[in-house]
Amino acid sequence: MKCHAPATERNRVFLLEVLRRVLSDRREVLEIASGTGQHAVFFAATLAHLRWQPTDRDPAALASIEAWRAEAGLPNLAPVRALDVGAPRWPVEYADAVVCINLIQIAPWSVPVALFEGAARLLPAAAPLISYGPYRFGGRTAPSNDAFDASLRAQDASWGVRDVDDLTALAQRTGFELEEVVPMPANNHTLVWRRRPQGQGTLPAQARPEGPGARPNEPPNPRKSARPITPSPLESISGFQPELALVFPKACPRVR
Ligand SMILES: C[S@@+](CC[C@H](N)C(=O)[O-])C[C@H]1O[C@@H](n2cnc3c(N)ncnc32)[C@H](O)[C@@H]1O
Repeated sequence: MKCHAPATERNRVFLLEVLRRVLSDRREVLEIASGTGQHAVFFAATLAHLRWQPTDRDPAALASIEAWRAEAGLPNLAPVRALDVGAPRWPVEYADAVVCINLIQIAPWSVPVALFEGAARLLPAAAPLISYGPYRFGGRTAPSNDAFDASLRAQDASWGVRDVDDLTALAQRTGFELEEVVPMPANNHTLVWRRRPQGQGTLPAQARPEGPGARPNEPPNPRKSARPITPSPLESISGFQPELALVFPKACPRVR
């Protein structure tokens, strides 16, 4: 059954601009948490030099992705694979880029931890990990993201809009650097993380630093500051509303 997430149709052209540039020299993209499969079809169709591998852990999402894929009939869109980010081994042999859209905030902190650790195991040196969603910067975010954060936490106290400082600490621990922060409509951002040369920054489990967010089940301080930031110019230009409609309709994949 094909599921439909309206937000994908609003954000995909803005994401495409970033992906076209950052993935220009890439061949094999692993998409984590592909959801309905709409992004996978759109990016495979528009970035024909890439082989796009969609994945998700939710059975309804997997069915939807396959339905969209079958209809599109794109030669560079691989059959979907079941992948739970938290699994100790990912069922993917090779990728030279990882893309993850709107997962990090709708999951416990152990999920971004597993995302960076898994991407570090998979990706070659200098490969990008691209994440998209709402973020805090030094504890601050736009009022619309604060409202989104409150709605997420009301659904599950372990979810929430993550701070780029905490993600950067996680990235550094797992061997990534934050290369680029691209403002997007509706106060979202695309973050481009770059894998350092192998062996740099990947600490064995017993050597991990202590502190907030250092352990998978310990979320970092969700709100370092209550001060909101002003909406980005893109938000006013586009007139977009926050992506509150991210949660799928009942018959379609839920987010947990
Ligand atoms: C809000 S949806 C985003 C889907 C899609 N990327 C988009 O932007 O429309 C979050 C997705 O993450 C998936 N997900 C949640 N936890 C996951 C995990 N631990 N591993 C893999 N996927 C997960 C859910 O099944 C869901 O499809």
